[in-house]
Amino acid sequence: MTLCKALLAQLLGLLIAIGINPLLPLYYSSWVTLLILQSSCAMLSSTLLQQPRWWLVIHLLFLPSAAALLSLQLAAHWYLLILVVLILVFWGTVIGDVPLFLSSNPVVDTVSQLITQESAQYFAELGAGIGTVTVPLAKQHPQLIINAWERAPIPWVINIWRSRHYANSHCYRNSLWSCDFSQYDVIFAFLSPAIMPELGAKLKTAMKPGSLLVSSSFAIPDWQPEAIKQLNDMAKTQLYCYRIA
Ligand SMILES: C[S@@+](CC[C@H](N)C(=O)[O-])C[C@H]1O[C@@H](n2cnc3c(N)ncnc32)[C@H](O)[C@@H]1O
Repeated sequence: MTLCKALLAQLLGLLIAIGINPLLPLYYSSWVTLLILQSSCAMLSSTLLQQPRWWLVIHLLFLPSAAALLSLQLAAHWYLLILVVLILVFWGTVIGDVPLFLSSNPVVDTVSQLITQESAQYFAELGAGIGTVTVPLAKQHPQLIINAWERAPIPWVINIWRSRHYANSHCYRNSLWSCDFSQYDVIFAFLSPAIMPELGAKLKTAMKPGSLLVSSSFAIPDWQPEAIKQLNDMAKTQLYCYRIA
């Protein structure tokens, strides 16, 4: 559904731009104007189709980036390679709504403090990306057992490589929906608002009573957080801390 909406927004953007471009005075009617019009109209269509706000950036950059890459006139196999790499990195976006974004250092520091406060022995991360959170935690808490799940192939390989010196940290290439969450004292997730209701329904019964769920940036609807940590990073991240009853 997400992908259909994105394609529709791009297509609408293109059709409107093609319609408007010839009406402009000759001086303004150029490829650049067409690209600006298409990006703006695709963003507008995306808003009307009620896509999440981060799609606006993708719509803004999509066709101009494609045009810039085409203008490089590379051999055809390079374009195929770029497409394959993008699919292997942003795997979740194509099939599961969650793109790769990286947590900041203040997020890692705050999660580290929470692990200490909770005297946690078992920690899990759902959608671990390239190990931005798990690698420093494995280093700072050598006694902590860390299990993480990452579905996108390239981030997973990078995660495995970065974790190679830390025997206490393991990253599995499984979907987070098929994991057993019952042993963890603290679970960290930085995912997407689109899946928070489903995630909340699963974790409510799957996590052990008294354990702590930390959700970065996205609240679980209808759950009451025990605390909300406001961080002073660039994204002004909020960490929602939920105690499992
Ligand atoms: C917003 S990124 C967060 C990356 C990392 N946790 C961090 O904080 O820097 C979300 C990650 O979750 C992964 N992901 C999305 N759906 C998943 C699923 N069902 N199972 C495992 N990983 C998933 C994505 O591939 C992406 O790398």
